[in-house]
Amino acid sequence: MVMDSTLCPTPPMGFNTWNRFGMDINETLISETMDALVASGLAELGYVYLNIDDGWMAPERSASGALVPDPARFPGGIRRLADRAHGLGLKLGIYSDCGRKTCGGLPASYGHERQDAETFASWDIDYLKQDWCNVPFEDFPGQSERQVAQILYGRISEALADTGRPIILSLCNWGHGEPWEWARELGHLWRTTGDIVDAYHRPRSGWSGDLLGIFDVNVELDAFAGPGGWNDPDMLEVGNGGMTDEEYRTHFALWCLMAAPLLLGCDVRTLSAETGAIVGNRDLIALNQDPLGRQAQRVWHAAGVHLLVKPLADGGRAVGLFNQTDARTAADPWAHVPGAGTVRDLWTGATESGGTVELAPHQTRVWRVAPR
Ligand code: GLA
Repeated sequence: MVMDSTLCPTPPMGFNTWNRFGMDINETLISETMDALVASGLAELGYVYLNIDDGWMAPERSASGALVPDPARFPGGIRRLADRAHGLGLKLGIYSDCGRKTCGGLPASYGHERQDAETFASWDIDYLKQDWCNVPFEDFPGQSERQVAQILYGRISEALADTGRPIILSLCNWGHGEPWEWARELGHLWRTTGDIVDAYHRPRSGWSGDLLGIFDVNVELDAFAGPGGWNDPDMLEVGNGGMTDEEYRTHFALWCLMAAPLLLGCDVRTLSAETGAIVGNRDLIALNQDPLGRQAQRVWHAAGVHLLVKPLADGGRAVGLFNQTDARTAADPWAHVPGAGTVRDLWTGATESGGTVELAPHQTRVWRVAPR
């Protein structure tokens, strides 16, 4: 059997534990987060995947070799959380790794791919994030990292397909071996970069997880995204406190334009009004979830100002103008967007018709252009 490519027609939306909670997770947190997704209205906006990241497994497999949830932190087991999610109209995601151990040092799927896929299917899991730590490259002499990734992600992909349960597969090998060139055959999204950190720019650390560094890599990969398979520039940091609200609006707008998965990474149980207004912007979500499934193309950039255009299913376009610099600046995006006419600003709702646009430092403006 092969992987079901109809499973992910638009980028997945939901929540993942990692950015805010790391390894410090338990079933109370998961249950409360489910309730918060529903009560806040975020689930109704499309944030339906509750994805448990690293930290859920017990330190040892069972006598029969199966992965088991940590008995202290998940005493009720994973199946019960899946039932609870499904009862609320949500979906449950889980995490493993292609290697011998997860990045956090817990048991992972190398040599157990079939058994783990069957375990996840028996728990009614809907989504698997498969990480890339502790891979035994010594078992693959002479093979490149790309080849090993194709083999190991191939194993888990086939094992998932053979369970007969539709399960989204998220490949998390940080862009190593250009997964955008081959991962669509095996899964539904693939990380394009290293791990995001909650920072706008870290000048001395190079491209290591800050928003600007991730954007620089991911924005070039628009040709590879589309219905069934998505570039994954990592999960959202909106609301975690390391950036300004202006920078968080930029983070969210760029992820929407780049058709990225929208996986909330803040504590949704204590969502602030500001964070709720950013991640709950229906017009931006609609761009991200547009059924045409195109990632915005960068059509122009100069001196740290970037212009992105995303074709939409109704024949219209989304236009984003991002000022990465620390200074106020002005630009005329419409010179590069022929026939735009009257446009709607998706942050303010205001209607505008062309002309020079002013941008604050780190600001991103986004407009919707009606079909011609
Ligand atoms: C890797 C992944 C992260 C997260 C951690 C968990 O770093 O890229 O997204 O899953 O592992 O340990």
